Amino acid sequence: MVRHPDFEQLFEIKHPLIQHKLSLLRKAVTNTKSFKELVNEITLLLVYEATKDLPMTTESITTPLETFEAPVLDGKKPVIMPILRAGIGMVDGFLKLMPGVRVGHIGLYRDEETLEPHTYFFKIPEDSHKRQFFVCDPMLATGGSAVDAINHIKSRNINKITFVCLVAAPEGVKKFTETHPDVPIYTASLDRQLNEKGYIVPGLGDAGDRLFGTK
Ligand code: PRP
Ligand code: URA
Repeated sequence: MVRHPDFEQLFEIKHPLIQHKLSLLRKAVTNTKSFKELVNEITLLLVYEATKDLPMTTESITTPLETFEAPVLDGKKPVIMPILRAGIGMVDGFLKLMPGVRVGHIGLYRDEETLEPHTYFFKIPEDSHKRQFFVCDPMLATGGSAVDAINHIKSRNINKITFVCLVAAPEGVKKFTETHPDVPIYTASLDRQLNEKGYIVPGLGDAGDRLFGTK
């Protein structure tokens, strides 16, 4: 895993399993069932990397042979924050590795004409300021939705945030890193560019519609 040479806070995970599964996900012929499964599998593999700096402590445990100070995760359980709708498709991937995490929700949609994000829902645990947040959305396109979601989260005094997406566009990463230089981004791919409609190319199409079969 390496930092991207063009963007210091971007980690593009080039693991062969992630790249192979992402190629399957991108195919237009991949059906909704397979799409959902692949989103979960890729997310799980990204989460393994995105959680590498979680704080650790030790606790005394007893093996069949002796008692010793064993490493365990420290602090309160993290919060997974999917950006609705498509972010919901990534939650199971997180829960498979961290079953006890809390799940917040932010509802945002991108106006198809202006591409501006609109917020319609926000719910997080009461003691969220004590927790690490993992915000997830399959697509970072213009960056408007992710930037806005993180603005909302930061306005609640939360400052430990990581963003996880499957595919990012350079235009969105630039906007994101200029606005939130303290938030690392983990992605399976930095794609070439946005097209004239704000879609990522080569991309995978509309993640929400493909996950939920709405088009
Ligand atoms: C998609 C995607 C992101 C957003 C990315 O959601 O899941 O949230 O677009 O685009 P941006 O970086 O240009 O903001 P959409 O608004 O289509 O809503 P949906 O998840 O409900 O389909
Ligand atoms: N949202 C998507 O779902 N796909 C894109 O390519 C851009 C925004």
